[in-house]
Amino acid sequence: MGKKLIIANWKMNLTVNEASLYVHKLDKLVGKLKNTEVVLAPTMLALQPLNMQVQHHHFNLAVQNFYWRDSGAYTGEVSASQLRGIVQYGIIGHSERRHIFAERSKDIRSKVQAAVRNNITPVLCIGETAQERANKETSDVIRDQLVGGLANITSVEVGQIVIAYEPVWSIGTGKFASPRDVERAVKYIRRQIEHLFGKVAAENVRVLYGGSVNLDNAMSYLQTAGVNGLLIGESSLDVYAFAGIIKKCEDMPSLPVKRGK
Ligand code: 13P
Repeated sequence: MGKKLIIANWKMNLTVNEASLYVHKLDKLVGKLKNTEVVLAPTMLALQPLNMQVQHHHFNLAVQNFYWRDSGAYTGEVSASQLRGIVQYGIIGHSERRHIFAERSKDIRSKVQAAVRNNITPVLCIGETAQERANKETSDVIRDQLVGGLANITSVEVGQIVIAYEPVWSIGTGKFASPRDVERAVKYIRRQIEHLFGKVAAENVRVLYGGSVNLDNAMSYLQTAGVNGLLIGESSLDVYAFAGIIKKCEDMPSLPVKRGK
């Protein structure tokens, strides 16, 4: 059992004012939640003002990116230690960071470690490209990204983090993965975590699906064995669609979360 986790990744969208209005509206639309934890990842600029606003509601905040060193001469960067106490989650290794900003495994594992060090729960994003999928390399990519991203943390710490399976080919394309594929990938993720960090870590780690999730397909993933929630991009920009997904999740019969092992 456990609450489902639904994260809105707004990417480089919405101004601070728009973000604040959104939070206000979302709160009105969803009311008090029992079974769902909602996390918003707005622009970095909105984190501080929203932090005060969400304290009145029941939402948590995530940062979309940060630098792994705690302080120093790193012009333009924001550290996890500066974000401590403002955000509860940090998105790390998103495919846009890996592919557009050339982040490597080394950067990603340093960020995972920095988040843990600063009391921020890492949301480690992993997933294969269309080419890797066509080459039947999905499992290899998942394994490499898990090994690369989690190298510096302990099995206890791994049990507390979140893994988001986001196939690159499904992000922002409208081509979503089938629940069967997601179930298979999530099973494989837990098997790898068990292999690397033991059974308890594999049972405790939360695994999300992300990639073209919308109001119509969200339930099929929420009901997929082993899936603890969703990481949503475009559909989360529309507060009505996002609230609709949250409500569906909230009203789901409370089945024990099958770990899909
Ligand atoms: P879309 O939901 O727009 O496909 O984006 C998914 C994503 O990248 C969330 O981090």
